[in-house]
Amino acid sequence: MRIIILSALSVLAVTAGISRAQDVPEPARAVPYTEAQASRGEAQFAESCAACHGSELRGTGDVPALAGGLFVSGWTGQTLGTLFDRIHDTMPQEAPASLSREQYADILAYILHMNGYPAGEKELSEQSESLNAISLVPPPMAKSARN
Ligand code: HEC
Repeated sequence: MRIIILSALSVLAVTAGISRAQDVPEPARAVPYTEAQASRGEAQFAESCAACHGSELRGTGDVPALAGGLFVSGWTGQTLGTLFDRIHDTMPQEAPASLSREQYADILAYILHMNGYPAGEKELSEQSESLNAISLVPPPMAKSARN
């Protein structure tokens, strides 16, 4: 099973002053969330989401998995902003938009973590402009998911 990586190269290339050409996205530099944020998200996920989606994000019954090939291929080409809005506006199913935007961003960081994206130095923003600037793209050939 392949995983995908995040591409925020245009933004990062400018802000970090990266000068060399980057035809292939480099995950470690491109993923904007931290380990600490993903752990906060894990706790929040356990409280608000795991009852339906499962603690391993594999889904239960009719509830879709939030980790794995089907999930990532379904979101490839879309932005993190779209995924954030989808979660914020419709989840938890019984109480949409009931958490703070920061809590949703933490949960999204945890979901990215569980899909094999490496953590970085910068937290995932809860701001739409930042989230909209990051598209989900297919992984470089070298990268494959643990199964
Ligand atoms: C009461 C059960 C329930 C809870 C709690 C719940 N979900 Fe869901 N979720 C669903 C169901 C059912 C679907 C599929 C139907 C739909 O899209 O509304 C879904 C769909 C989704 C999707 C779309 C998946 C895809 O690839 O299209 C995402 C993302 C998601 N949930 C995230 C979350 C997050 C994050 C939380 C916690 C904040 C959460 N859900 C809490 C039941 C739940």
